[in-house]
Amino acid sequence: MAGLNVVLVNTAPAYLLTPQLLKTTLAAHPDAKGLVLNYPSNPTGATYTHAQLRELAAVIADTNLLVLSDEIYAELSYEEKHISLAHLLPSQTVLISGLSKSHAMTGYRIGYLAGPAPLMTLAGKMHQFMVTTAASPMMKAAEEALSPAGAGDAEAMKKVYQQRRDLMMAALTQVGFSAPKPAGAFYIFAKLPAKFGEDDVQFVYDLAEHARLLVPGSVFGPGGEGHVRLSYAASTKNLTEAAQRIQRFVAQKE
Ligand SMILES: Cc1ncc(COP(=O)(O)O)c(C=O)c1O
Repeated sequence: MAGLNVVLVNTAPAYLLTPQLLKTTLAAHPDAKGLVLNYPSNPTGATYTHAQLRELAAVIADTNLLVLSDEIYAELSYEEKHISLAHLLPSQTVLISGLSKSHAMTGYRIGYLAGPAPLMTLAGKMHQFMVTTAASPMMKAAEEALSPAGAGDAEAMKKVYQQRRDLMMAALTQVGFSAPKPAGAFYIFAKLPAKFGEDDVQFVYDLAEHARLLVPGSVFGPGGEGHVRLSYAASTKNLTEAAQRIQRFVAQKE
């Protein structure tokens, strides 16, 4: 909408932007104005270790890039505590977040930005005329989520999601999918068992009759071909049923 040119960067197989990959991309696009980062990631569940994030931040600090850092899955980090890029590079980062994931408030339309004050003033002007405001009942819910009463909710949810991740990882690997173990968010980005080849779209259509959990990996951009994204933001009962359906489908296919 702003007339910018989008350059997609293939981060497979670890799905992390390395300092080297960023340097190579910037060398090919010296006019780059900004960088969109998302960690923990939708669709891969990948996230940066503290050391990796610091190394990446050091490269960004040497540029004029403005980073739009979508960290909406911050509370769902299974290995290390999440660090925001806004903490490391406050003058170059616009943090995007919300309560959809930490407090299961998808659909409430409550999100927020945090960034350098002059930019936030401009974002406020746009917002006022495009959106006006979030609905009052949703703001009440957000207030409760952010109060001491809601402070422990994300931690409890994280434990449940981690169990669901382990359940689905085990079910998928048992029938020949392979995926890096997600360190955050609630997605598994799995390579199809070899007998299905590279056509992730066809696989998802065929499977749609049996379980509706999967999105073809190729819709997320280069590096996604031959993969599928599974979301484990569903009840453990439904996930158990879905795992059985996926396993039956894979086993039946010649
Ligand atoms: C990376 C990322 N950012 C932001 C959102 C926005 O969530 P919502 O519109 O529900 O607040 C999502 C939801 O799927 C997401 O995956």
